[in-house]
Amino acid sequence: MIQAPRTLITNRLILRRLLLSDAEAVFEYGSNPEVTRYMVWRNHTAIQDAVAFLEQCTCSWNTGKEFCWAITVKPEDQAVGTISCRIEQSEADFGYVLNRKYWGQGYATEAVHSVMSWLMNLPDVDRIWATCDIDNRASARVLEKSGLQYEKTVPRAIIRPNLALTPRDTLVFSWERAEGLW
Ligand SMILES: CC(C)(COP(=O)(O)OP(=O)(O)OC[C@H]1O[C@@H](n2cnc3c(N)ncnc32)[C@H](O)[C@@H]1OP(=O)(O)O)[C@@H](O)C(=O)NCCC(=O)NCCS
Repeated sequence: MIQAPRTLITNRLILRRLLLSDAEAVFEYGSNPEVTRYMVWRNHTAIQDAVAFLEQCTCSWNTGKEFCWAITVKPEDQAVGTISCRIEQSEADFGYVLNRKYWGQGYATEAVHSVMSWLMNLPDVDRIWATCDIDNRASARVLEKSGLQYEKTVPRAIIRPNLALTPRDTLVFSWERAEGLW
């Protein structure tokens, strides 16, 4: 099983493992409809939703199913968002979310860069991909800035329960290891 780093450090951020004590910070952004609009999970309505999420993160990390880091902005230790990735054989995918107060400062792109750098250094991973809703322009821009290429639009692919109960068109972006480099 792949062991993910507990901490990833960038110029301005520290990505670290989530703790149960992050519940209030997770609830702050998880209960903001502007933040959760395009997410695949329902807007949090009680702190228990954040606690359940954190418990699931611990379990997924320990079994290697998914690695989810808190995004913290130095020098504070507050979780202002999360970034997570899953690795399945030669492919990895990732997703992210940020507290509304921290948008527009390049933090998501910085966090993605850090996780992608780790993934790109895993020799068995030769494709990294991510999706976003067709209307989620900020997220699509983060993926472009992070060096992923737009691959395709999949019609009616993913339900975004805070927007609609019918599946919505989804953009797929990816990075592939160039053949012959290894
Ligand atoms: C998507 C999200 C993580 C971006 O975080 P961020 O730290 O603000 O992102 P960055 O600052 O690194 O980059 C955002 C880019 O999108 C651009 N952008 C923002 N809103 C935009 C819009 N409505 N239309 C077009 N571009 C937009 C910004 O100008 C910036 O690009 P630039 O650097 O070329 O100017 C944040 O908005 C968020 O948490 N949204 C809710 C959760 C979510 O949608 N997660 C992704 C699920 S796939």
